[in-house]
Amino acid sequence: MTKITVVGAGFVGMSCAQRLAEQEVAEDVVLIDVVEGKPQGLALDITQAGAIQGYQVNLLGTNDPADTAGWDLVIMTAGLPRKPGMDRSDLLEVNGKIVTQVAAYVAGESPDSRVVLVSNPLDTMVHLMAEKLGFPKSRVVGMAGVLDSARMAAFIADSMGGGIQDVRCMVLGGHGDSMVPMPGFSTVNGVSLPSMMGDEEIQGINDRTRNGGAEIVNLLKTGSAFYAPSAAAVAMAKAIVRNESRLLPCSAWLEGQYGLDGIYMGVPVILGRDGVERIVELELDEGGQAKLEASASAIGSDIKTLEGLGLL
Ligand code: 2OP
Repeated sequence: MTKITVVGAGFVGMSCAQRLAEQEVAEDVVLIDVVEGKPQGLALDITQAGAIQGYQVNLLGTNDPADTAGWDLVIMTAGLPRKPGMDRSDLLEVNGKIVTQVAAYVAGESPDSRVVLVSNPLDTMVHLMAEKLGFPKSRVVGMAGVLDSARMAAFIADSMGGGIQDVRCMVLGGHGDSMVPMPGFSTVNGVSLPSMMGDEEIQGINDRTRNGGAEIVNLLKTGSAFYAPSAAAVAMAKAIVRNESRLLPCSAWLEGQYGLDGIYMGVPVILGRDGVERIVELELDEGGQAKLEASASAIGSDIKTLEGLGLL
């Protein structure tokens, strides 16, 4: 019996719970939040939708970490979202404290679990979670590249007038303004993107991809995206619990890959039963490598801020 717990019953967390149920990814799903009654109500609602949509799931809503003992996998979504005008790094302190609290009970209740983290600022929060859990770093992975690559694919399909199912993109680096869309590693049903459109159009898509999260935050005004982030987190969870060995861009712990060491950052990984099974090193040109290094230093300064706050 596979048991997945979603921490945080905000928009991302509730959407993750719904997708896990609809796709029957796990027999047992637990949705936990600090707000009394919220996860319980959402769990009932999602379960009742199963009578219409035809899925069966044991979905428990709870406020008690003890209900979550023996997790196979944790999707960590708890934390505040951005508001218009905010950078993800503005959430460092408040979400750093939440990640620290959650790591304390995950480590105690489910020492063998794998963790997919969604909370922002992503690359530093997954680093903090991994440090606080003390698990092998391969079992703790951040969701960002799958989301950013999906946005890039949607923008490409939009410009082509359709065919989103054929578009496969690769966005690496940090989950922020310094992210690195990789048109040279993006294809439309195997045809490389640069063969499909000119540099100017590609540049426009790269820029819009970098700004994809903020574009939605500015439209929603009260929070950030949750449909695509939850779809990305559940795709990663499925790859892990079903041991799918998928090649996906994820925030993973680097130990020399891409010339970077001791940092979580978005890179192509093979995702399977034990989490990050392998990091795939792409042949990058000088420009690509330089952009990854610039992204790493942006993450590094957030790590220093966390250290200065005494959180890491
Ligand atoms: C986003 O890019 C929430 O960081 C997430 O929408």
